[in-house]
Amino acid sequence: MLNAVVLGSAAGGGFPQWNSNAPACRRARAGDAAAVPRTQASLAVSANGRDWFVLNASPDLRLQIEATPALHPHEGLRSSPIAGVLVPGGDVDAVAGLLHLRERHRFSVYAPARVLAVIAANPIFHVLAPDCVERVELPLDRRIELAGTVGSSGIAVVAFAVPSKVPLYLETAGQDPGIAEEGDAVGLEIIDSGTGKSFFFIPGCAAMTGPLRRRLTGSELAFFDGTLWRDDEMIRLDVGNKTGRRMGHISMSGDDGAIAAFRDLGVKRRIFIHINNSNPVLLGDSPERQLAETAGWEIAYDGMEVRL
Ligand code: MLT
Ligand code: MN
Repeated sequence: MLNAVVLGSAAGGGFPQWNSNAPACRRARAGDAAAVPRTQASLAVSANGRDWFVLNASPDLRLQIEATPALHPHEGLRSSPIAGVLVPGGDVDAVAGLLHLRERHRFSVYAPARVLAVIAANPIFHVLAPDCVERVELPLDRRIELAGTVGSSGIAVVAFAVPSKVPLYLETAGQDPGIAEEGDAVGLEIIDSGTGKSFFFIPGCAAMTGPLRRRLTGSELAFFDGTLWRDDEMIRLDVGNKTGRRMGHISMSGDDGAIAAFRDLGVKRRIFIHINNSNPVLLGDSPERQLAETAGWEIAYDGMEVRL
């Protein structure tokens, strides 16, 4: 059985975001029960209860580990149940958490070639000493088994390209980097090797495509990009000048949004994750939250547990 724990459910910046004084962030800071704070998107998953894999190394990873008893050390003076970290994209909110794991613990970093290249190009990641931390390429569209500390972890993964863009810090100033399906960011299918059951983790995706639709159709569970409610939300709220599309994120609402795109896919459980602090679904008393839930979606929260 796959056990998954949502370590963080917000998009880059978290909720509240450090420099946002917008009404929703103010409500979160004030302890409003309908504006629950969230850390940056990440999931932990295990099939055997011994080896855990972190999907997305968020900048909040250290606090997320402390908040999750399954990820605490259980053996000897120095240990960790974290056997691997899967990094599906090169954005700061997916890679920065690797720097928290620099204390000579043995684990593997799994990432697609383009993300491994981004990590390799930045010497700060050398703090993950090569004799301790193996970097393993996630091939696209090919299943690989994730190694456990002793023998098999019981988990396999398939990484696949989704419409995405290069990380923000690799964009050329003043130029639209465009959206491509070349593995700048990938979706992950996490498979229980024992039961064959699987779920999807797709925290960043610019659009629904035919291949993605076919992959998702009839699946048990998908965690999916919930960055924005509407494409021009940040512009309307006067908190930014980019659309969701420009940032490489599909929106929840609208004819070309995620709720509409999933309507006929027969995905049994649909959970939005990577939710931006500008997205009104974060507020438990908003009409948008009501609309998303009525459409059959759940809104991930930190500490949410899912079994499959
Ligand atoms: C994103 O999801 O678009 C990125 O996290 C943006 C960023 O790097 O701040
Ligand atoms: Mn992000």
